Amino acid sequence: MFQAEKLYEGKAKIVYTTPEPEILLTVYKDDATAFNAQKRGQIKGKGAINCTISAALFEMLEKQGIATHYIDKPAENEMRVRAVKIIPLEVVVRNIAAGSLCKQTGLPLGKVLPQPLVEFYYKKDELGDPLLTRDRLLLLELATPAQLEQLQTTALTINRHLSDFFGSCGIDLVDFKLEFGLDKEQKLLLADEISPDTCRLWDRSETDQKARVLDKDRFRQDLGQIESAYQEVRERVLAQLGMGKD
Ligand code: TMP
Ligand code: ASP
Repeated sequence: MFQAEKLYEGKAKIVYTTPEPEILLTVYKDDATAFNAQKRGQIKGKGAINCTISAALFEMLEKQGIATHYIDKPAENEMRVRAVKIIPLEVVVRNIAAGSLCKQTGLPLGKVLPQPLVEFYYKKDELGDPLLTRDRLLLLELATPAQLEQLQTTALTINRHLSDFFGSCGIDLVDFKLEFGLDKEQKLLLADEISPDTCRLWDRSETDQKARVLDKDRFRQDLGQIESAYQEVRERVLAQLGMGKD
């Protein structure tokens, strides 16, 4: 009898082995953290909502020619994925100034950027996930120059598809974080998740700075109505894909 082994437990997901060595099972949790886990809580139903949204977005991106780790979703908070070696980089794409960009540059919240900004952060909790320069990234051998080029190009392509898609849902994609991994053949695959935990999403029909927030900033900033915001994103995403209620 196959015994699933817990390979890794992160802040929002647990990764298990499956009978097939090239396939892993990720279980999405309701746990929420912010500010490098200094703030902790639970968002009821988040695991299932984020898994559903992520699966739908990975499927949409695959149709647009983006290679992802996604295979299928055997349960509402479980996703089967291709095993990859995660590149320890958080690839952030920004369309509108918010979050750490405002804090570190003084740009006003909500300023539309003249062109999307791609940033690389070192995925290392002990160091607080610092922003990297290109030279530091190469110095640390976190990616080769060719991989860096591919990450940048792929992130911008994904941004185009996601921005168009969320736009069709009446949502502005302010910024988001991606992670990538390499499979056995060293092929670059989009990995991790794409959800209201990892994106800033603003409701276009709301002008109020707080009311428009449909993402984890509701948790980070104690804005309340977190569950309903996540549900709203799930419903709009599924409706737009013709998948109705899950
Ligand atoms: P930031 O403005 O805090 O740098 O965040 C940029 C985007 O990245 C935002 O959409 C939230 C997302 N993000 C994560 O998914 N994980 C993280 O650990 C951090 C800091 C940001
Ligand atoms: N996910 C990160 C953490 O806990 C930060 C964040 O999303 O704000 O620590």
